Amino acid sequence: MSNTPATEAPRRRTFAIISHPDAGKTTLTEHLLLAGGSIRAAGQVRARGENRRTRSDWMKIEKERGISVSSSVMTFEHDGKVFNLLDTPGHEDFSEDTYRTLTAADAAIMVLDAAKGIEPQTLKLFEVCRLRDIPIITFINKMDREAEDSLALLDEVASKLQLDPSPLYWPAGSGNRFRGMLELKTGLFYPFTRRESGSEYDQGHEAPALLDQAVAKGWLDQAELDELRDTAELLEGGFKAFDTISFLEGHMTPVIFGSALRHYGVNQLLQAIGDFAPAPKTVAASKAGTDTTVDPTDKEVTGFVFKVQANMDPNHRDRIAMLKLTSGKFQRGMKLKVQNTGKQLSVNAPIMFFASDRELAEDAFGGDVIGIPNHGVLRVGDSLSESGTVRFQGLPNFAPEILQRVRVKDPLKAKHLKKALESLAEEGVTQLFRPSIGSDFIVGAVGQLQFEVMADRLANEYGLDVIFEPSPYAEARWLGGDAAKIEDFAGKHRSAMGTDIDEFPVFLGKSAWEIGYVAERYPDVKFLRTKERG
Ligand code: G4P
Repeated sequence: MSNTPATEAPRRRTFAIISHPDAGKTTLTEHLLLAGGSIRAAGQVRARGENRRTRSDWMKIEKERGISVSSSVMTFEHDGKVFNLLDTPGHEDFSEDTYRTLTAADAAIMVLDAAKGIEPQTLKLFEVCRLRDIPIITFINKMDREAEDSLALLDEVASKLQLDPSPLYWPAGSGNRFRGMLELKTGLFYPFTRRESGSEYDQGHEAPALLDQAVAKGWLDQAELDELRDTAELLEGGFKAFDTISFLEGHMTPVIFGSALRHYGVNQLLQAIGDFAPAPKTVAASKAGTDTTVDPTDKEVTGFVFKVQANMDPNHRDRIAMLKLTSGKFQRGMKLKVQNTGKQLSVNAPIMFFASDRELAEDAFGGDVIGIPNHGVLRVGDSLSESGTVRFQGLPNFAPEILQRVRVKDPLKAKHLKKALESLAEEGVTQLFRPSIGSDFIVGAVGQLQFEVMADRLANEYGLDVIFEPSPYAEARWLGGDAAKIEDFAGKHRSAMGTDIDEFPVFLGKSAWEIGYVAERYPDVKFLRTKERG
């Protein structure tokens, strides 16, 4: 059978996992890959991660702090569907990076620790998903440990996230008394069997049977069965039934309970992603300046760069642009054009990221992500297409929360520093501003950790020993509105003006108060917290 965009794109499920650190994202990733049949034993993802982490100092930061700052994508095929799991960085300092990765996701899995419910980072990431109304499936993890009351957990989802939870399953007990869960639609009970070692879970748990048989099978005692039945009845009135449209619009979240570590509920989750998560959507775009839409089944190959990643293979100093394909059938060797620069590139060595290793991609379709090695031609937010005329909405930059001045210890290397800072800004690691007066480099970031990652990379990849110092600025705002008004404003505030990496005018304020003050006095100028790139 020939594979065409019309047959292939609808099979794609491109999703990300959002969670607070420690809720079980890594474990769940691993067990999803296991359920999808793309790894054979638990432990491989972590082992691979650790192996990778020891390869560079930058990764050392991740290791020392137990956080993940780089992100990648893993592809696996299961039950007729192609799953692309986008890995999002877990640390809050990298929320901008996470935002960009989520722009490439068509759905998200929200993992909650059953004993903790919604934690601060869950909330932040959820808000990012809400900005784009990404449909969310909720997985309540660690049911094999003492959990909060399940009803209370769902109430928390409803009240803190304003999201309608719709349980697809209901658990019997938790911790030592965790017995399994009931599938509410079918009345099937899925028993949980506690075993010792991780690898045994590869065999899965016992096959489900109707709840009536659970006592006879020794899965539940009569009291547990009665309680589960009573609760299940209550649920019907208490929660809305699962509604696909409401889910796809981002108002409702189906809920599954389980234990990633014990490979319980993971098959059901994978099934739910396959059944409910959307295939890649039609997206708004412009073509040769005219508004249009791009459908994944369209013939022309199109896509956008949502991330540029360095350091995946320190031996090659490569820089890989992650391209989310939005339409067409991409084939290796194909020529694609960058819309905003008109540059053409032959994509001879695209990379697909299978769980086992990196492999050359022969073809890929809407929903897939391919890595394109390049030397600075591709930037975050770029739109690529065969004709070079298709443009997608760019990805935003967010106003940084910390601005610091950066200096290189050896003054002879100042020129070198400029280049290095520019390329890190291109990659989206940090933002770079040049004040109109003087020769300072001001680096902006959302969190302190970004500066550390940056210093580390400047030393290792560029041989630059740098010092970060406090800068006179506290806030940066991009200027928008009428060009003549901006020019007038800039002329009167030259000492507080600068430009960003794209030569965009930026006002560098000494305080939030100052920004408010000038904004009030210049109502025709917009002081923007986000800027769209691409
Ligand atoms: P993260 O990526 O979200 O940060 O979480 P990760 O998967 O690393 O899991 C955090 C901890 O929670 C790990 O324990 C992991 O084994 C444990 N965990 C994950 N899922 C479950 C589950 O379903 N049940 C139970 N009981 N524990 C779970 P750790 O001790 O920090 O790491 P490790 O030494 O076990 O690797």
